[in-house]
Amino acid sequence: MCAAVAEDRRWAKQYPWLGEEPIPTDSCISEEIYQQEIEKVFKKVWLSVGRVEELPEPGCYKLKRLDFASTSVLLIRGKDNEIRAFHNTCSHRGNTVVVPEGEWDNFGQKSAFSCRFHAWTYNDQGELIGAQDEKGMPPCFNKSENGLTPISLDIWEGFIFINLDENPKVGLKDYLGKMGDHFSGFPYDEITHCFSYYTYMDTNWKVGLDAFAEAYHVNTIHAGSFPGTFSTGLQMIKLYDDHRSTAVCFNPPKSAPPVAGLAQSKARGSLVNNVAETILPPTLNDEKRDDYAFELSVFFPNWLLHVSEGIWFTHQFWPIAQGKTLWEGKYYVKEPRTNSEKWALEHAMVVQRNAWLEDTATMEGTYYALKSGSKKFMQLHDEEILVRHGYHVLEKYLKGEEGGH
Ligand code: FES
Ligand SMILES: [Fe+2]
Repeated sequence: MCAAVAEDRRWAKQYPWLGEEPIPTDSCISEEIYQQEIEKVFKKVWLSVGRVEELPEPGCYKLKRLDFASTSVLLIRGKDNEIRAFHNTCSHRGNTVVVPEGEWDNFGQKSAFSCRFHAWTYNDQGELIGAQDEKGMPPCFNKSENGLTPISLDIWEGFIFINLDENPKVGLKDYLGKMGDHFSGFPYDEITHCFSYYTYMDTNWKVGLDAFAEAYHVNTIHAGSFPGTFSTGLQMIKLYDDHRSTAVCFNPPKSAPPVAGLAQSKARGSLVNNVAETILPPTLNDEKRDDYAFELSVFFPNWLLHVSEGIWFTHQFWPIAQGKTLWEGKYYVKEPRTNSEKWALEHAMVVQRNAWLEDTATMEGTYYALKSGSKKFMQLHDEEILVRHGYHVLEKYLKGEEGGH
């Protein structure tokens, strides 16, 4: 075990204002609390919904369903190269303009978006450019006032954020605050080769999120994928208003099994790849630890961003209902150049898939057991202080005390 873990309650001593009380389980199983979270958090704060690289050219769009708000968001890059967000709702009688296909995000490219119900048509800037048999519309009808309904959008480091509030209380820069500074300067736009997994789970969104916001579970849950690789003790924790970040470090190196060792030596995309030169901005690993593995962070409320040498990855938990959640895991590496790098990438993808299966495997079981109501509280370990911080921030929003950025 890492020596740091044996230091008694070091995080509680560093952050005494978070307290050490058990956390009520109600938060994960109460329908009433869930409805408050949707109204006071998810419909009010900035949410990460994509990357600019997903919309490379004018007319490119991404359709993202936000079931918690009974809407889908249409992100479009216009001819003027601006990316805008709209409710995917027709101004005529409210049909969906782009019909969602399948169960996950939709992508495409169009110069005009025509509603299939009565063919009202919008351009790539959301303006209504055609209404069928327009002469039949009443004199008060004005096309220029009937474009798609815009949603506030802003971009940080190539990440597209939206805010469903008609008048967001704070801009994205202020919302991210020091967390934005902490993660700025990493070459996200140069590491764009992505593999991803998603699944819908019968769990509350926080049960999922919390399972990724600590390393206390790595010796047990990840004994298969990363045996003894990472320390359960966190380092360099930073609590920035609503957001939180920490370093996860390696245990003293052990020799890898032969195939894994070979893959790691070839990979440009392994989490345990060694590199000669750092690409991390100076804000990360500011103590310059040589056992630094990766940065783990939670951007409030539902997005985790991780960066490491040569890779970065995200998790996101979208509430669908109180006990239903969409999990998305996305992992970014540099484009493989050679066949051996392609093979090493396949290996990294399988290892990561296994690790994420290990993580997600607990989430439905935890929710099911919590729903029994037999435990009124969760008892948190000191190394789960990011989880504690999450509930602290949430409580602030539910009480209406947010906005102190
Ligand atoms: S609802 Fe879209 S054209 Fe009628
Ligand atoms: Fe994990």
